[in-house]
Amino acid sequence: MASPTLISNTGAWKELKGHVEEIKKTHLRDLMADAERCKSMMVEFDGVLLDYSRQRATNETVDKLFKLAEEAKLKEKINRMYNGEHINSTENRSVLHVALRASRDAVIQSDGKNVVPEVWSVLDKIKDFSERVRSGSWVGATGKVLKDVVAVGIGGSFLGPLFVHTALQTDPEAIKSARGRQLRFLANVDPIDVARNITGLNPETTLVVVVSKTFTTAETMLNARTLREWISAALGPSAVAKHMVAVSTNLTLVEKFGIDPNNAFAFWDWVGGRYSVCSAVGVLPLSLQYGFSVVEQFLKGASSIDQHFYSAPHEKNIPVLLGLLSIWNVSFFGYPARAILPYSQALEKFAPHIQQVSMESNGKGVSIEGALLPFEAGEIDFGEPGTNGQHSFYQLIHQGRVIPCDFIGVVKSQQPVYLKGEVVSNHDELMSNFFAQPDALAYGKTPEQLHKENVPPHLIPHKTFSGNRPSLSLLLPSLNAYNIGQLLAIYEHRIAVEGFVWGINSFDQWGVELGKSLATQVRKQLHVSRTKGEPVEGFNFSTATLLTRYLEATADIPADPPTLLPRI
Ligand code: F6P
Repeated sequence: MASPTLISNTGAWKELKGHVEEIKKTHLRDLMADAERCKSMMVEFDGVLLDYSRQRATNETVDKLFKLAEEAKLKEKINRMYNGEHINSTENRSVLHVALRASRDAVIQSDGKNVVPEVWSVLDKIKDFSERVRSGSWVGATGKVLKDVVAVGIGGSFLGPLFVHTALQTDPEAIKSARGRQLRFLANVDPIDVARNITGLNPETTLVVVVSKTFTTAETMLNARTLREWISAALGPSAVAKHMVAVSTNLTLVEKFGIDPNNAFAFWDWVGGRYSVCSAVGVLPLSLQYGFSVVEQFLKGASSIDQHFYSAPHEKNIPVLLGLLSIWNVSFFGYPARAILPYSQALEKFAPHIQQVSMESNGKGVSIEGALLPFEAGEIDFGEPGTNGQHSFYQLIHQGRVIPCDFIGVVKSQQPVYLKGEVVSNHDELMSNFFAQPDALAYGKTPEQLHKENVPPHLIPHKTFSGNRPSLSLLLPSLNAYNIGQLLAIYEHRIAVEGFVWGINSFDQWGVELGKSLATQVRKQLHVSRTKGEPVEGFNFSTATLLTRYLEATADIPADPPTLLPRI
């Protein structure tokens, strides 16, 4: 018998299944002609405007999606998250990234304890430490100011901080506070990434921040050991105490690694890795680069959306609407992907970050109770800033597959440029595309229009655009630290909404484990083959052949090579 707990067994889901067949008969050209409909599909909160009128949806669709949300007990699930219940049931953990940006006087409980004071004690510690480093009262082993920071971490311990750093880099206030300083990120275990990140850096002026929730991630720990060696080789082993600090939930392993626990910045198991940018994971490296007050604005922006998400009714709730519309596109239209298209170069690392938040959270095949899902959950997220993407993959989006698009625009550029005599400013030029693309997708171009333009008949099929391709637009007033925090929280909560409605656990990530354990087997094989000459054993024909070829072609590597750091 079908599981009664699956959302796809509810009346609301079945109604939407029938309703989508009706909507398939409509065209966005016609839906867009209804100004009342369009007006009702614009929602604004704290300066952020969402326009979802170019979704293949009517007001009736939205009402039916609200019914689905009700059947999924969405509001209850949101409340349970904010109340610190162990909604991440497979890891028996609360999910409280909202506590990371709560105001000092807020009360958020996990396991009967208000976690906000702990959050602020770490934030205060970061403020103090980052001010000491920035002012030069904390110096390196040779007495020099530590002006450069390398943050070592991967996945959630990298992508969020990189996104925020990239977004802040050209913000005028952030530029001022970052003058003379550099922040780099070492993520990949590929030694090329080490080489690229230490190039041009002097160990004497470099602080390494090792960021790992578990402090066991193979890539991060090898990179951390490599940079420890880089510092020790140049300045002696005792320099590590001044040049390396850590961010982790596992302070025992931090100490074992040789980092003084006083120089460790804690976070908690109720913070998922991909939801950790507002913890010390992001706040420490970003405060070292931009100063705590800039980062505090970022936290405030996220907190503003947290409150909106918690209290706004569904019809005015930006993350709820976004989440429900994603479900509409994925589960009812069957569109498997979503393009994230910020018309801002500063947001170039936004899509890669959201890719992890979304795909690691919702790329699941079973319900939270463990029942096989009879529908696909999650979507394939990808994206590039406009207008670069237009010259890359938009061809497919316009005339190939249907991919719902998120257009993200910014009213005021961080760096306006005007050229005398030009028709528009450079930002207006960018934004012309932001406004035009959604209409091109929605309206398309008909063969009749092409006939009227005297297009030769043989080219008409090639120049026809079917249109009816859904998108939504988010318009931010500007792109300062506060707005960046808003944008982050909107997407984090949207993804949670999708997971809550699909009835999956958006906060675990068992799917990353199998590959990791197979790599352990390969690592052991490489070690015994190189040190003892043992043949490749225990692998299938394909892997054994590839491994053997790899080992044979690198047989000149000595069994116990001396330490070798990149020479670049
Ligand atoms: O890729 C799996 C993962 O566990 C992510 O969820 C996490 O963000 C990343 O590895 C890094 O983990 P850690 O912060 O423990 O090093």
